[in-house]
Formats: sequence, structure tokens, C-alpha cells
Amino acid sequence: MARVVSFGSVNVDHVGYLSRDRIAALADAHGWFPGAGETVRVDAVPADIHDDLTETFLGGKGANQAVAAAAAGADASLLGCVGDDEDEHAVVETLAARGVAVDGLERVDGPTGYAAIVVDETGENHIAIVAGANGRVTPAYARRQGDRLRDADCLLLQNELPADAILAALDELSGVERRPTVVYDPAPADGADAVLAHDAVDVVTPNEGEAAALSDALDGFDGTVVRTLGARGVAVDTGDEAFHVGSPTVDPVDTTGAGDVFVGYLATEFGDGASLRAAVELAAVAAALSTTAEGVQTAVPTRTQVLDGLRD
Ligand code: RIB
Ligand code: NA
Repeated sequence: MARVVSFGSVNVDHVGYLSRDRIAALADAHGWFPGAGETVRVDAVPADIHDDLTETFLGGKGANQAVAAAAAGADASLLGCVGDDEDEHAVVETLAARGVAVDGLERVDGPTGYAAIVVDETGENHIAIVAGANGRVTPAYARRQGDRLRDADCLLLQNELPADAILAALDELSGVERRPTVVYDPAPADGADAVLAHDAVDVVTPNEGEAAALSDALDGFDGTVVRTLGARGVAVDTGDEAFHVGSPTVDPVDTTGAGDVFVGYLATEFGDGASLRAAVELAAVAAALSTTAEGVQTAVPTRTQVLDGLRD
């Protein structure tokens, strides 16, 4: 069983399924809105936008990827911070019930991370995140978790924690004999180039917007680049070989977190010894299936469903 550790964010996702007209009206009123498939950091979400977000899910790229890895069959755990409101949202219990080991999570004062997510009629997502407890993850915390970080077969990182904490986690892998494969999801793209420059990063998984924003940093990156292209599948470039994997055709209702489901499945398969191509093929099916249901963690397909989808 692959040991997959996600060192990352936990958010309470507030989701609104809105028409494109309503989204355009909100963008007009505020002079700003996250683009399709984009996650941006904000200090606060305007009240009128929050009022449109009627559904609540547990999310955060770190937590989502851990849940997807657990569904894929990994021994999955999550490292990070939740707020002192976590009982209210049953964060820890929910993650544990979804098969994720949470003994390394720490509780800090203040709220758990928050995400405002708007999904349009085509399933496209627009995300703004407020850091909350995710912003309280420190280099000292990363050092305290050094053994757990090193013991993984695959370490998953995203860009929703402070950069100094992510870099400290990577530093924990320096100079050790056996270290995990590190998969870095550069989302949000803003500031991700600093992490990409760390030589412990093996695989990076940008979506199209992130790949465009990070094109210079990706040119200088000498690991494997796995670009997720939505309905058009996945483009892989290891430096030695480049190939494309298709995605099954589905009717999406909510594409939020499809990239997280992809990463969780990819890490589990690859950590279990599958070839990169086989791992990407399975993960692409898992990601596509996850877009056919609302939410992220509530939409992660079981391994059996993914294997069935792969055969179709
Ligand atoms: O990738 C999807 C996730 O991005 C959401 O769950 C939200 O919390 C943000 O982190
Ligand atoms: Na979904």
C-alpha cells in the first residue's frame, strides 16, 4: 500500500451554483472575479458574494488530495492546521471517516480556512480562498513533522500554505537516503515559482491557467511536468519523453477539485509502482468522474468505479 502524505490546506468550501449572468453581475459589481478554473487568495470575501453561496462542503486542496488518495487505496494522511471552529464543521471527524489519518493535524486559534466557490452552468469553477488556519502553518511545524514527511512514498504539496512552510517541508527531505517522490500542485499559481525552484520537487501538476502563468519557471524545471487540460486530458513531459492521455467524455456538473482527485489517484498508483503512463490514465478517469457530482470530497469515485470507467 502506497503511503501518501499531503502537507496542505483544509478549507470549508462555501459553494454557489450560479448562472453566467449572475456571475457577470457579481464581477461587474466588484470590478474583479476569479477566472474559470482559477483559485486566488483574498483577505475577505464580499458579503453579497458570500450570500450567494448556499452549499457547504469540506475542501482545501491538501485535504481533497488526501481524501482522493485514500479512495484510490493509499495509506493516506494529512498534515496541516485547522482552526478552533473545527468542531463546528466536524473537519477532523469527516476526514477520518473518509479514510485519512489526521493525527498530525494541529489546531490553532481562529477560523479554519475558507473558500468561496462559484460554479457556472457548465460546471466551471471560480475560487477565492481566505487562508485562516492554513496561514498559520509554520516552518517549525514542518520540522516537527519531519519523520512523517520522510516516511512517505509520495509527498503531495500545493500552494495554499505559506511558502516558508512548504520550503521547510522540502528541506526536511535533503540529504536523506530514501525520500518520497514529491508531487507539487502549483495552485494558486501566484508565488509557486519559488517552490518549483527547490530541487526536491519531482513532479509538478499545473492546469492550463497555472501552466501559462508559470511558463518561465516550468521551462527551467527539470522534473516531470504533468499538465491537466480539463476535458482534453493530460499532457506529460518527463524531459526524456512526452505523451498525451485522453479523458473520458462526461457531462460535468461541478469541476471543482478535479485536479485534486487527479493528483490523489496519480500519487497512489505511482507510489504503488505503476508506470507513470498507467498512473496518469487511471487518474484522468478518476478526475473526469469526479466532475459529474457536486463538491470534491463528496464526488471522489471509488477505485472500483474508476477501474470500470477505464475499461469502458
Ligand atoms: O481545488 C479545489 C479546492 O480549492 C477547493 O476545495 C477549495 O477549498 C480550494 O482550496
Ligand atoms: Na465535483
